[in-house]
Amino acid sequence: MATASEIAAVGVIGAGQMGSGIAQLAAAAGCAVLLLDADSAALSRAVASISASLRRLAAKGQLSQFGPQTACEDSIKRIRCVSTVQDLRDADLVIEAIVENEDVKKQLFVELDEITKASAILASNTSSISITRLASATKRPSQVIGMHFFNPPPIMKLIEIIRGADTSDEVFAAVKSFSERLGKSVICSQDYPGFIVNRILMPMINEAFWALYTGVATKEDIDTGMKLGTNHPMGPLQLADFIGLDVCLSVLRVLHNGLGDNKYSPCPLLVQYVDAGRLGKKRGLGVYSYA
Ligand code: CAA
Ligand code: NAD
Repeated sequence: MATASEIAAVGVIGAGQMGSGIAQLAAAAGCAVLLLDADSAALSRAVASISASLRRLAAKGQLSQFGPQTACEDSIKRIRCVSTVQDLRDADLVIEAIVENEDVKKQLFVELDEITKASAILASNTSSISITRLASATKRPSQVIGMHFFNPPPIMKLIEIIRGADTSDEVFAAVKSFSERLGKSVICSQDYPGFIVNRILMPMINEAFWALYTGVATKEDIDTGMKLGTNHPMGPLQLADFIGLDVCLSVLRVLHNGLGDNKYSPCPLLVQYVDAGRLGKKRGLGVYSYA
């Protein structure tokens, strides 16, 4: 199994908000990146947003934190878009950032287990789903781990690492050290629904939806209250739009099912927005309009 410094080729699956940022970080740290998405338009959008983000960081002289191989254009060239899971066969580490759905993720882990080399580490960027259950879909549960980045990955300083029941000490050490190589601070969570950050963040976002739903205040006043009253960079409703309302709803459902307490039950307004396709900033409409 590769140690952190030997991780040379990284597969990233899902080229949405998170996967594109993760691919950018790995490329800026000098890795060859294979970026896969089921939707070719998502790959094109990812390449454009990665290029823009790297150029913004380079213009501000902020790429140096990623180590010696920091030239912006070189980083962009290290990313290769691919179209099948088979293209990831030589990856040392694969980080999955597809839709927050346990069955879909498990199916992907089955395929990854079949095609990747025996030494490869398989990581999930899941916001809430059990790493132990994802690992159980493979024949290498000791090499499966949660590597939870925060949005936007190039800017946020944290990676939350989640050990499944069988994750080995060796794999944990390699992923921790690789995360530090990406310039991030690391925290470690046991494998409970929502881990540390979303266990605490999502009930707050849900409560903001209840406040809006029950007419406590306008969306603007709820967000301004939390921004100016508690010094959050974004209000909870704006943050929910930024994360994606579909992601917030999926996480709350995992918390509700896994912890069995009605306090995690998603607010009907959040459910209705997702049903209506109002998924947040990525779709141009959520709690707010981004037209
Ligand atoms: N790439 C490069 N640079 C970026 C960037 C990106 N993707 N996104 C923002 N930036 C830079 C901007 O260029 C800007 O730089 P300067 O200050 O040097 O000009 C800086 O970051 C701030 O950006 P903006 O001025 O555009 O906007 P902002 O001041 O509102 O900051 C933000 C944006 C960093 C996202 C800030 O609003 C923020 O911290 N919001 C909260 C984010 C948060 O809580 N994320 C966690 C969500 S929960 C999660 O991720 C877990 C989960 O499982 C759901
Ligand atoms: P997104 O909707 O922006 O992107 C998901 C991408 O995955 C899409 O481009 C989609 O085409 C692709 N995809 C879906 N199923 C696929 C499959 N089977 N094979 C290949 N590609 C597939 O979602 P996102 O916000 O980037 O979230 C991705 C993951 O990261 C989720 O597990 C989410 O919970 C987690 N996460 C999200 C955030 C956030 O703030 N949005 C933060 C941390 C973690």
